[in-house]
Amino acid sequence: MNVVPLTLDYELTAFDCGDSDLNEFLLDDAKHFLEKRIANTFILEDNGRIAAYFCLLNDKVSRVEVTNSRWNKIKDSFPEGKRFRSYPAIKIGRFAVSKDYQGHNIGSMLMDLLKDRLNSQISQSAFRFITVDAYHSAIQFYQKNGFVELSQKEEDEHTRLMFFDMMEVG
Ligand SMILES: CC(C)(COP(=O)(O)OP(=O)(O)OC[C@H]1O[C@@H](n2cnc3c(N)ncnc32)[C@H](O)[C@@H]1OP(=O)(O)O)[C@@H](O)C(=O)NCCC(=O)NCCS
Repeated sequence: MNVVPLTLDYELTAFDCGDSDLNEFLLDDAKHFLEKRIANTFILEDNGRIAAYFCLLNDKVSRVEVTNSRWNKIKDSFPEGKRFRSYPAIKIGRFAVSKDYQGHNIGSMLMDLLKDRLNSQISQSAFRFITVDAYHSAIQFYQKNGFVELSQKEEDEHTRLMFFDMMEVG
């Protein structure tokens, strides 16, 4: 298996993760997002098949969207004088594993790889957190991969804002 960046001339093949919005994003929107510099997509290939994909974009974790108790914990992890109203982050815009590959640890393996890759890009722009608007059905998956809920408020009826602290990567 191999992770490759989506390019404009990449030949997308069938993909079904069981969620039509996530399927359609990859097949219909991902190249537009790339072209318009809104999000970059990465594909996990397995012998010419698309096993999974995710996309990334810039984000921030702000005081206004976080519960008081969570914000206090975040704040305490920075020294006095380095406490700001927001901290830089990278958002996982989409994350999906094909139905044929679900339940075999592929999602967790891909998440580890994503964290490792982001962690080694230290010459690029700095960020402290990875954020995701997690589907309710996927909250447990993100928890198992070290993410915690940022706010008790539901972002919309389908998602919950969660984050991972890059200081946890070894
Ligand atoms: C959610 C998803 C990415 C998980 O990928 P996966 O490869 O099936 O997950 P893994 O096999 O790596 O699972 C890792 C752990 O998370 C748990 N988990 C995975 N999906 C879960 C779910 N939907 N609900 C509860 N727990 C889940 C697994 O039980 C496993 O726990 P274990 O290690 O104790 O057995 C995948 O099922 C998927 O793409 N679903 C449809 C699209 C989606 O919901 N994407 C997320 C959008 S925010």
